[in-house]
Amino acid sequence: MFRNGCALLPMKLNIDSFALSDVQKYNFLGNNKNPMLILEAPLGVPDKTGIISSRCSLNSPILKDIFTDELYQFIHNYLGTKNFWIRNDPVLVWDSKKHRQSNSDSGFFHVDYATHQLSIICYLEDCNLNSTHTVFIPKTHKKFWYQYEFTNKKTSSFIKMALKLKEKNGLIDLIGKKGECWIMDAGNGLHAGKYADDRIMLHINIACSEYYNSGYPPTNDLYDRFLFNKKNSDCTLNRKWMQHI
Ligand SMILES: [Fe+2]
Repeated sequence: MFRNGCALLPMKLNIDSFALSDVQKYNFLGNNKNPMLILEAPLGVPDKTGIISSRCSLNSPILKDIFTDELYQFIHNYLGTKNFWIRNDPVLVWDSKKHRQSNSDSGFFHVDYATHQLSIICYLEDCNLNSTHTVFIPKTHKKFWYQYEFTNKKTSSFIKMALKLKEKNGLIDLIGKKGECWIMDAGNGLHAGKYADDRIMLHINIACSEYYNSGYPPTNDLYDRFLFNKKNSDCTLNRKWMQHI
């Protein structure tokens, strides 16, 4: 992660019972007595890019499985502060090829506002090279992107620069099996979406910058109840866990 800016986390969520059809049928919204994901609202209608999404409750049991002490410590270590939070709510995202009329602008390489921000992607269905997925140019998280935070990702000079970096550093496809999770510095690393077959995932953004003033100071429940209730925990780096990422 420190070297490349993204990594597959050494954990696998136990979500065997979850199936895409559950989303299609909205089964897990209320019928399931112990849903791992609690949606704040029914899945919305697809947008032009074929994305169907819903914010998820911070009480969703799956979050407890994702945010292990090790992950908390890792985030602290990477961002260099304990003052981080989940920006917005976790979002269930379903990229539906059937509903896609056009690709999102996120298909162009970009950084998310040039300030370190970690994104966690948890696959709720297998995601392979034929699926819609994120690609990341390794090592670009180490660059200073500040002058580009508002640059239009479609400008030819920016595209040229991204392609040059891609040629030099290569490309990492963030694909994985159901239950696997990636972490990436989407805030300050060059990444893009690749649009293809369906993908279904839980998407979580971890921010630490006051730039995201819509979320600072954090006002949602999470600030008090979820991450920050760990504020007294010992954040000594867990090297055994870290060596995997
Ligand atoms: Fe992005």
